[in-house]
Amino acid sequence: FQISLPENEPVKGYLPGSPEKAALKAELKRQLAEPVEVPVIIGGKEIRTASKAPIICPHDHQKLLGQYYIAGEQELLEAIEAAEAAKAEWENMPWEHRATIFLKAADLLTKKYRAKLAASCMLGQSKNAYQAEIDVICELADFLRFNAYYVQEIYKQQPNNSDGVWNRIEYRALDGFVAAITPFNFTAIGGNLSTAPAMAGNTVLWKPSSTAVLSNYYFMQILIEAGLPAGVINFLPCRGVDFGKTVISHPQMAGFHFTGSTGVFNGIWNQVGQNIDQYVTYPRLVGETGGKDFIFAHASADIEALTCAMVLGAFEYQGQKCSAASRAYIPESLWGKVKARLEAETGKIKMGDVCDFTNLVNAVIDRNSFNKIQSYIEFARESKDAEIIIGGKCDDSKGFFVEPTVILAKTPDFKTMVEEIFGPVLTVYVYPDDALEATLTACDTATIYGLTGSVFAQDRAAVIKIAKALEHAAGNFYINDKPTGAVVGQQPFGGSRASGTNDKAGSAINLTRWMSQRAIKETL
Ligand code: SER
Repeated sequence: FQISLPENEPVKGYLPGSPEKAALKAELKRQLAEPVEVPVIIGGKEIRTASKAPIICPHDHQKLLGQYYIAGEQELLEAIEAAEAAKAEWENMPWEHRATIFLKAADLLTKKYRAKLAASCMLGQSKNAYQAEIDVICELADFLRFNAYYVQEIYKQQPNNSDGVWNRIEYRALDGFVAAITPFNFTAIGGNLSTAPAMAGNTVLWKPSSTAVLSNYYFMQILIEAGLPAGVINFLPCRGVDFGKTVISHPQMAGFHFTGSTGVFNGIWNQVGQNIDQYVTYPRLVGETGGKDFIFAHASADIEALTCAMVLGAFEYQGQKCSAASRAYIPESLWGKVKARLEAETGKIKMGDVCDFTNLVNAVIDRNSFNKIQSYIEFARESKDAEIIIGGKCDDSKGFFVEPTVILAKTPDFKTMVEEIFGPVLTVYVYPDDALEATLTACDTATIYGLTGSVFAQDRAAVIKIAKALEHAAGNFYINDKPTGAVVGQQPFGGSRASGTNDKAGSAINLTRWMSQRAIKETL
């Protein structure tokens, strides 16, 4: 058994008349007509608890896609027991058997359930067909296939021997269970955060985002169909405070895999610190958190490439990618042309329902998010230090719609230049061409984050200078490209500073965090 280096799952086009488009349309119709009940899954058993909540369609908030059951303290304790009961057999299962389950899941996802998964992601998380395709199909399949390959490669790494001494490393799972809390914005992240520790032999308690339950549940069902033994991953929609109290503080929690806000991760870290004497082992804490991702343009930038990156980087998936461009630094000498092109390109964007495939922009995820984004736009509207130059309308009468918005800030420390908004809002600061150094410093120090960023320049010396000046400002740095769209196996993803522990999702570095080595020396 040998896994060769995988290829990325090809992205389907959903062109008019294509079979994938017909299948997807039929599936969208079916899911809109047939509401589902999503259970909690513990030890392989579906559980319908006493408490449930609606699954809302963000582009039409009166439309319910179904309901999901909420795990309470009792169920979370049962899930810990189930994870502990499943651990020994799972950890000791030959690696080839574990790997095959995840490789099978990738094939089920891409071959059998493509339309079902994509439709659930479109309706539940308000993604257009392309955004759903690159997330819940391609990126998720890539995570499964590449991670299986990386685990295999890690297991092969063995130490040297010397005369009469034989050494070996056993790659064990961690001494306990792993907890995963996953976000709404990428089902691929939910799938990665729950399965990566499991690949290394751990059992997992998975709390999916309450606003992405449907697609995450369908992925969980695929894992079960692929042969994942009961209790290895337990699917636990629940309230964050219950998960925190019952799971995070549990002495057997040996690892925590997280994507979400900086505030929540800091809270978990504090909680772990307060409980540190109680754990059986030091929990490994791996998190990808907030961002305030930038585009920095030099006077030599190609204007067309730059404006295209600004529009797609800021507005695709309504600016709700962790990597989305949300601040841009443009030299005065380019601003006139950049502004004209931004207006022209943004003017062509259609916004609306995910079922109309011509809409590039859809709804933001929920009311909280809508309110937060709107309050930033209103702040800019009322400020004398900023001007809304494109968009700015918000309408929640049917769905949570926020127009793609560009704010022009007079200073590089204006509120919307430095705080994370997580919506389709790009703030631009226009800098004097002779103030390049000062603007680079402003870009580097304006925020607490360090996730993604781009430089646009055709002058190589400028590229080198800007890349060096911003070397700590982004864990994923793009030269003449938008700061979104990292591909598994090509650009391992993650940032540092307040953006996370930078244990790159979809990399061998990430997978080693879920392994505990035993180094064995044997002598003659
Ligand atoms: N990996 C995604 C991207 O690069 C963000 O989570 O856009």
